[in-house]
Amino acid sequence: MDDLRIKYIDAIAAAADEAALEELRLQAVGKKGEVSLKMRELGKMTPEERQVAGPALNALKNEINSALAAKKVALADAALDARLATEWLDVTLPARNRRVGTIHPISQVTEEVTAIFADMGFSVAEGPQIETDWYNFDALNIPGHHPARAEMDTFYTHRAEGDERPPHVLRTHTSPVQIRSMEKTGAPIRIICPGRVYRADYDQTHTPMFHQVEGLALGRDISMANLKWVLEEFFSAFFGTEVKTRFRASHFPFTEPSAEVDIQCSWEGGTVKVGEGDDWLEVLGSGMVHPKVLEAGGIDPNEYQGFAFGIGIDRLAMLKYGIPDLRAFFDSDLRWLRHYGFASLDQPTLHGGLNR
Ligand code: PHE
Repeated sequence: MDDLRIKYIDAIAAAADEAALEELRLQAVGKKGEVSLKMRELGKMTPEERQVAGPALNALKNEINSALAAKKVALADAALDARLATEWLDVTLPARNRRVGTIHPISQVTEEVTAIFADMGFSVAEGPQIETDWYNFDALNIPGHHPARAEMDTFYTHRAEGDERPPHVLRTHTSPVQIRSMEKTGAPIRIICPGRVYRADYDQTHTPMFHQVEGLALGRDISMANLKWVLEEFFSAFFGTEVKTRFRASHFPFTEPSAEVDIQCSWEGGTVKVGEGDDWLEVLGSGMVHPKVLEAGGIDPNEYQGFAFGIGIDRLAMLKYGIPDLRAFFDSDLRWLRHYGFASLDQPTLHGGLNR
């Protein structure tokens, strides 16, 4: 028994890892281990012999088991120490800077435009981007055979075969929101409708998706003069300087008379500056709402009249912030977004300032 004790206690002390330890456990106190076999021999002994050998074997078994348990703990501690010595963390290092996202110029300009018109009593209205052809065309006095339909490079949605209804369209302008708003609130009304619009077109100043803000003001005696004042007021507030406008007679099916509006600018060294010089830049379409359009919106043209306009938001952003290529607006290039984006705390208000 003494031999066994020395043999195993020494071996356990010398075990290099848990696997070696388990091996020793099986050899000593496993079912067929040396100590276990000795215990089976107890049956062949005389009662006197057994009284001595039994407790001694039990004590040996307990001693080996505790040695195994103690060595197991020691091995685990050593493994942890080894790990701690190689894996370490310098908690005194300064934290990494986290990049904060920016507000896209389109969002920024939309907020600016909204703030200015809100100050003039316009509220914001919205409509769907997938429109029926009635709201996008017919209600706006653009019948099926009208050339304006073809000119708009419209995206049509798909209809199942055999379904003869006219397809829905991706709205080609924000003007359908005029009709939806008239139906909803009637007249008098004073709204702007910013949003996405779609046309199949792609070059430096055109993308298949772009942004407009529609304006609509109806009352008993709203005139072209009111339109001119509102737009001039808007441009001066938006560009932060007095901006001259030029109204050119034009044609839209949904307004009569119609005018395209240019703003005063200068071209120097390939960059455009608004509010100076003697060049002109077209920025919007406008006019007095056509009686047929009022009727389509459920409003009596003998009682109410007013103006509407549609401004390109992307164009405004390019002009105000000197961004030369429209396509980059929608490339999701992080370098571009960080350069042209706005801090989220920079939100425009009339009193806080609309210009950085
Ligand atoms: N809907 C026209 C366009 O997209 C703009 C416009 C709106 C013109 C309202 C007149 C009145 O070009």
